[in-house]
Amino acid sequence: MTHDSEKSVKASLPSDQPSLIQIKAVSHAFNTGSGPLPVLDSLDLSIKKGQFTAVVGPSGCGKSTLTRLVAGLLIPDSGDVFLDGKPVKGPRSTVGMAFQNPVLLEWRSILDNVLLPLEIVPDRVPIAEHKERALGLLSLVGLAGFEDKKPSELSGGMRQRASLCRALVHKPEVLILDEPFGALDAFTREDLWQIMHELRAEEPFTTLLITHDLRESVFLADEVVVLSGRPAKAQFTLPVRIDHERTLDDLYTQQSIDMLATLRHQIQLAQGRSTGSNS
Ligand SMILES: Nc1ncnc2c1ncn2[C@@H]1O[C@H](COP(=O)(O)OP(=O)(O)OP(=O)(O)O)[C@@H](O)[C@H]1O
Ligand SMILES: [Mg+2]
Repeated sequence: MTHDSEKSVKASLPSDQPSLIQIKAVSHAFNTGSGPLPVLDSLDLSIKKGQFTAVVGPSGCGKSTLTRLVAGLLIPDSGDVFLDGKPVKGPRSTVGMAFQNPVLLEWRSILDNVLLPLEIVPDRVPIAEHKERALGLLSLVGLAGFEDKKPSELSGGMRQRASLCRALVHKPEVLILDEPFGALDAFTREDLWQIMHELRAEEPFTTLLITHDLRESVFLADEVVVLSGRPAKAQFTLPVRIDHERTLDDLYTQQSIDMLATLRHQIQLAQGRSTGSNS
């Protein structure tokens, strides 16, 4: 049986909304000992202001490479990356990032780890205000009272919460998350999904999430982009039309089950393990 819904659809947000992130015909290859390795191939992707976009795709297809391009840590061989209409030519202070491994500095307290981006990108705001913001974020993610602890005194899930606070402390326009919940157990991961929704209700950021977890993509995102196998193109885009406040129960509705089946089929296509039919 072929899924009727399986056709590429444009972003679900109103078309008049400007794109904050625009990736246009981006191709990139890495030089390796055995010659160039093409990783991205004419990739187009556009994320509107305030939108939450999840990107899924086969392992090694180029997802982390994509995050590095958006963060300005890598310049593509060809094509353009725009942030707020301006070409990305290097790292920007308006971007916050969190990864699978939180990489907190062991010699600093949790509060001082969260404050780190504000030391790297100095501004004229008094330190007391910075501390107030950091403590507010820590409280929002359930870490009130842990600000003076060292990273090794926290669990993996708690460290990842602190790392989310650090990514957001300087009020970035864009939050880039590269499998931030991948190393956590299922229950902690679901807790953090809910915390992401709470953070999003409080903070007006635009998100690019890389994940291997299709349920996570459907629970968190406004749209899910499936990348093809390497060299990756945007193979398929699924708008997630759950307009009410999401709860974990939403993952067990027929609508979600259908969306997950569609995504799973697209991943199989990307892996070259399936033909166009889903029978
Ligand atoms: N700096 C580099 N030099 C050479 N090859 C690289 C470099 N960075 C990444 N690659 C290669 O590019 C390909 C894409 O890597 P990337 O990390 O973007 O994949 P990914 O989709 O994030 O994979 P995963 O799902 O396993 O995290 C891989 O084959 C990887 O080995
Ligand atoms: Mg990766």
